[in-house]
Amino acid sequence: MLSKRKEAQYRALIDAAKAASELAYRPYSNYNVGAAILTFDGQIYTGCNVENCGYTQTIHAEQTALVKAISEGALKRALEAGRTQLTFIRAIAVYAPKGSDPWPCCNCRQTLNEFGLDMDVIGYAGTDESRVLVKKLRVLIPHAFPMEEVLASVRAGK
Ligand code: THU
Ligand code: ZN
Repeated sequence: MLSKRKEAQYRALIDAAKAASELAYRPYSNYNVGAAILTFDGQIYTGCNVENCGYTQTIHAEQTALVKAISEGALKRALEAGRTQLTFIRAIAVYAPKGSDPWPCCNCRQTLNEFGLDMDVIGYAGTDESRVLVKKLRVLIPHAFPMEEVLASVRAGK
C-alpha cells in the first residue's frame, strides 16, 4: 500500500508523464509514450519518445526523461548533497494512452539499472483512473547486470 502522500506524488508524476506523451514525435508507430522522473529533491523531469526514420535511432520516453534530468543538473545536485548516482531518482512514471500497462522496455530497464534498483517504477495505461501500479526496478529486472561490480573492477584497477 502506498502512503497518502506518496500516492498523491505519484499521481502528479503520472499526470506529468501523460502531458509529456502528448509531445511525442512518433510518425512511424503512432504510439505515444511519456515518462516523468521524480528526483531525490522533488523535481520532475519529463520526456517523450522521439522516433527516427532509421528506426534504431529512436529515443524512448524514459531515455529522454533521464537524459534531461542529468543534463539539467539533477545528478550533480545529488552528488553535492552526498548521494551517489544510485539514489538520485526516486521514481519514474511511464504513460502510454494505448495498449496495456506500459512498463519500460528491457532496454530502458537496463538504462535505468545504471541509477539504482531501488527506484519505484509506475506503469499506467490510462484505462482505469483508480489504479496506481508501482513496482521496484529490482522486481522488473531479475538477475540485473551488476553495475557496482563493474565499478569495483575499475576502482581496483586490475
Ligand atoms: N517506446 C518508449 O518510448 N518506451 C519504451 O520503453 C517502449 C517503447 C516507444 C518507442 C517507439 O517510438 C514506440 O514506443 C513504439 O515502440
Ligand atoms: Zn524503452
